[in-house]
Amino acid sequence: MDMQAITLARAVLAAARRPVVLTGAGMSAESGVPTFRDALTGLWSNFDPERLASPEGFAADPPLVWGWYSERRRGVLRAQPNAGHLALARAAAYFEQFPIVTQNVDGLHARAGSLDVLELHGNILRTKCFGECGFRCDDPKDLPAGEPPACPRCGQWLRPDVVWFGELLDAVLLERAEQLAQCCDVMLVVGTSGVVYPAAALPGRARRAGAQVIIVNPHPSELDDQAHLLIRDTAARALPMLFEPA
Ligand code: OAD
Repeated sequence: MDMQAITLARAVLAAARRPVVLTGAGMSAESGVPTFRDALTGLWSNFDPERLASPEGFAADPPLVWGWYSERRRGVLRAQPNAGHLALARAAAYFEQFPIVTQNVDGLHARAGSLDVLELHGNILRTKCFGECGFRCDDPKDLPAGEPPACPRCGQWLRPDVVWFGELLDAVLLERAEQLAQCCDVMLVVGTSGVVYPAAALPGRARRAGAQVIIVNPHPSELDDQAHLLIRDTAARALPMLFEPA
């Protein structure tokens, strides 16, 4: 544990007036939810994203894609928020606003008690219509594991309510995330490789607008150049030390 970086980051966060947190898959790694790009254990090292996480892949083989997401959904429902999620949820009490912009679809920030969470890439526990009718469903219970169910409104397939490759992010959420990056005074970036845009552009935007950027990641990431402070440790180990009384 790099105590010097932790001590400096604690001071920066203690003085923050408008902090923003940006999280990626590494945030939930210690909850047992696999990341995407870690060698060997990452989902994209074992599965083809074009087949499993794109509208074309779903159209080509709906049961394959639905089955893969059903398996991941079960994993997410079994997972518990880790000490990092809980530390962020508690940290909100110290600030007027404590928004968390997340690329994660697992809902663990909300389950840990965080109230202001922007899920940029959707939520795996929700489903929506693969067609145009706009049907959405929040209840993950009773979803079949084999074929995707039919949309109760229009009869099309239902699909997970996550953002797939080639799809646009929700424009309202993205605009708020960009505004937060523009106006924050500290951005705490946790557990992201920084290769998927537009989320990966947020730390650079915050830095150019004058914010201090703190990164928590045990490994190098594409965002390291943007960091004023780099904490080379895991989310569950580092985050409690950043906010809690010494
Ligand atoms: P990645 O899998 O690309 O990166 C995970 C990052 O977490 C890496 O930089 C790891 O070093 C780091 N990491 C691993 N364990 C950690 C731990 N315990 N604590 C802190 N950090 C740790 O995941 P993302 O950057 O989130 O998109 O990937 C971005 C997007 O790519 C995802 O949202 C997903 C994927 O395709 C969609 O599903 C739309």
